[in-house]
Amino acid sequence: MAAPSPSSDAWWKEGTAYQIYPASFKDSNGDGLGDIAGILSKVDYLKELGIDIVWVSPMFESPQIDMGYDISNYEAVHAPYGTIEDMQALIDACHACGMRLILDLVINHTSAEHAWFKESRSSKDNPKRDWYIWKPPRDAENGTRLPPTNWRSYFSGSTWEWDEHTQEYYLHLFAKEMPDLNWENDEARQAIYDSAMRFWLDKGVDGFRIDCVNMYSKRVGFQDAPVVNPDVFEQPAWSEYANGPRMHEFLREMNNTVLNKYDTLTVGELPHTPDPRHVLKYVGAADKQLSMVFQFDIVDIGQGASDKYRFEEWKLPQLKATVAKWQQFIEGTDGWTTAFCENHDQGRSVSRFASDAPEHRVHSAKLLALMLASLTGTLFIYQGQEIGMINVPPEWSIDDEYKDIESVNFYHTAQKLADEKFAGDAEAIRREMDYVKRSIQILGRDNARTPMQWDASNKSAGFTDKPEGAWMRTHDLYPEINVAKQQDDPNSVLGFWKSMLHFRKAHADLFIYGNFRLYEPDNEKTFVFAKTTTKTTTGSGEGVSDTKQAAVIVLNFTGEDQTVDLPPADEFGALQFHVGNYTDTATAEDAGRQVKLRPWEGRLYLSSVATAVKS
Ligand code: GLC
Ligand code: CA
Repeated sequence: MAAPSPSSDAWWKEGTAYQIYPASFKDSNGDGLGDIAGILSKVDYLKELGIDIVWVSPMFESPQIDMGYDISNYEAVHAPYGTIEDMQALIDACHACGMRLILDLVINHTSAEHAWFKESRSSKDNPKRDWYIWKPPRDAENGTRLPPTNWRSYFSGSTWEWDEHTQEYYLHLFAKEMPDLNWENDEARQAIYDSAMRFWLDKGVDGFRIDCVNMYSKRVGFQDAPVVNPDVFEQPAWSEYANGPRMHEFLREMNNTVLNKYDTLTVGELPHTPDPRHVLKYVGAADKQLSMVFQFDIVDIGQGASDKYRFEEWKLPQLKATVAKWQQFIEGTDGWTTAFCENHDQGRSVSRFASDAPEHRVHSAKLLALMLASLTGTLFIYQGQEIGMINVPPEWSIDDEYKDIESVNFYHTAQKLADEKFAGDAEAIRREMDYVKRSIQILGRDNARTPMQWDASNKSAGFTDKPEGAWMRTHDLYPEINVAKQQDDPNSVLGFWKSMLHFRKAHADLFIYGNFRLYEPDNEKTFVFAKTTTKTTTGSGEGVSDTKQAAVIVLNFTGEDQTVDLPPADEFGALQFHVGNYTDTATAEDAGRQVKLRPWEGRLYLSSVATAVKS
């Protein structure tokens, strides 16, 4: 895509975003839980890292069944995190140093403790009854009461919860404490726009990461999902509730009635959407719906097809094809994309996509940084990624250390199923549960939720002063992986991220807006890609000329030496080494056509001469 002329969308296209998980970022008052004042104390840190957009995960009032994604009041702050005034101070502090701040917009569901739901469940004729999704039971004969559909919720079990008081079921795609709002109800939608959106936009918030953005419009026929696992009643049902018939209409309405009145960024969380043409409908600029989305293919790598926590081995060509697909799908269109590989719902990228072995993890973290910083789209980093935090150790017990409702429920449900299925066969049960545990250890959300490792001043990595420690166990390796240790070291993971973020912006045409080209898609060991851009200049008298620029990025995704071929000279001319994740290579070294890469080594070359093509 040609470099755009400066326009109002440049801030959210070129800005680097950083996601903060409030519970685990920084505790300011010694209660063991992160808070808004803690975030405020780190605004300078973020600025110095090179961040432009701060995304704060839910800090709203919440019973915390799902770490704040269960909101009981959009217009209040979870008291242990602080107050509305603290949030205002944070918004203002970000703005004062030239950063923007976006919030999570969680409007597929509320908490069951939200006043709206309390009213809705109070009686069948309450005015807010229809703000949520209520259905009578199916087949109530023979004393068996069946839920309206066989849909499985994300957190195990049915999506339907029986309400004794009004003798109906309500829908919850997540926990039973998180009822789904009924977007078919006009009044409910207007209330959402007011309470969850305008309230914060008027305080200066610059946009939203929109939770479950494609789930508001359900297929209202409420039919059973296809049976993929005959052993159980509940079945994966995203075919029935994701990307429903009114989804695009709702997003257009949200823009026309709310977002258009402000200068905002929206990034939608978009699972279950593999078709690029479909994704383009959400992110095309002309049809104002969303600025961009997180398409899920990259973070789904290794997840089981129908059960997330049944890990499946994967090979590098899958990662490469995934990156290529979601880089290229906007080329020649007015759509926009994102570059990311971590968030609060994912295992750590070093552990998942590279190597967290002690001898490899620093190079691995920098290798992934080199890859991400070269990708087109808005770049998102998740807290701790910038220092190369890794997954929790395999010894941690699910029962004692894991906090996440999703993994804990899955583990217990799997245990029950294994006990039934392999009744009496202790060895088979143990094998099954070892596999489930290993899957959770690789993919579990808690990996991303351990306290941020600031320093080695205490056993909580400087995250909290509470003598008993943080709300969740601190990663055992904090003495080696922490901010203080890396802060002044340009060769650290943190130092490397800082320089890469700077470098990315200095070559925005190439890295933020460039076209992506993949080489050797089937090679299982190395990842070679080019970013290219063509600049059109109108010369004096000679008419228009195009200048082609290129970067070539070569990444060794193994723990052994590998040799890669650079693209032939007639493609980009001579290539010069510019930056790499090993510190001993001289820059501006002419590459030749073949490069030997050491374990997890990555290098970036720039075409030394811009190739001018007269037209
Ligand atoms: C999104 C969030 C996740 C949460 C879920 C329900 O997937 O990222 O953390 O559990 O929505 O709100
Ligand atoms: Ca606190």
